[in-house]
Amino acid sequence: MTNAYLQLSQVDMTFQSARGENPVLRGIDLSVARGEYISLIGHSGCGKSTVLNIVAGLLRATSGGVIVDGREVNAPGPDRAVVFQNHSLLPWLTVYQNVELAVDKVFRATRSAAERREWILHNLAMVNMSHALDRLPSEISGGMKQRVGIARALAMEPKVLLLDEPFGALDALTRAHLQDEVIRIQAELGSTVMMITHDVDEAVLMSDRVVMMTNGPAATIGQVMDVPLPRPRNRIALAEDKTYNHCRQEILSFLYEKQRKVEPLAARNSAGPRTEKIAA
Ligand SMILES: Nc1ncnc2c1ncn2[C@@H]1O[C@H](COP(=O)(O)OP(=O)(O)O)[C@@H](O)[C@H]1O
Ligand SMILES: [Mg+2]
Repeated sequence: MTNAYLQLSQVDMTFQSARGENPVLRGIDLSVARGEYISLIGHSGCGKSTVLNIVAGLLRATSGGVIVDGREVNAPGPDRAVVFQNHSLLPWLTVYQNVELAVDKVFRATRSAAERREWILHNLAMVNMSHALDRLPSEISGGMKQRVGIARALAMEPKVLLLDEPFGALDALTRAHLQDEVIRIQAELGSTVMMITHDVDEAVLMSDRVVMMTNGPAATIGQVMDVPLPRPRNRIALAEDKTYNHCRQEILSFLYEKQRKVEPLAARNSAGPRTEKIAA
């Protein structure tokens, strides 16, 4: 594909462990256009975070490669900002300082102190956090921490925004609010986004395309679906929209009918609690 901004080519990932090899990903091919919002959906443990971490440069693929805007990825970089499910703010820094750290790293050489300050304030305003600039992470809610994490990521002006279940730990109302904010901000900035989710509604609501992953081992892309819903999207109106519901059905049927049962997967993933919640 010639207009790919983010390109994964034949990405394989095999982890080595004491018990031998764990082939997690096999032949992942994906092209994402500039400004596109794509979601990766799949059952827990299939390898979604592994894909994202390879794009982030936090993991090295066993074979295959990732190209962002014409350059091969082989290390983490500010052109690929990541937001994880569990906010990763530095606990001893305030909301403002957490964003400042990232902004200084990226723009110290190119923007004045005053410009950087304005930019930090602008990004925190975008996620509605202007009222809590001097609070510590321990003094704000989980939803607010995710907002700061998103502001910090956006403030780096990344080429690709990588979101790994960014709303997964939030209660339903907070999640809906923050999803709407990210939708609005993405529309405003035209960001290229790769979001990991296991929530069918979230995938359809937010994405231009939904990439469905098969169950592991050796997971790969099973199906890619366009979401031909106009933007801006309204979650309430969409609940009764035919196209929206068709998209949901398509994903549900992929996950629950076309894929093997999830039980053997759970047995394989002995680490951590089961999080098979796929919104129905
Ligand atoms: N750093 C790692 N070292 C070894 N195995 C890993 C590592 N990261 C993930 N895995 C394994 O890869 C598989 C997929 O994990 P992950 O990508 O986190 O799945 P998902 O995000 O879809 O829930 C799991 O079997 C997991 O145990
Ligand atoms: Mg994951």
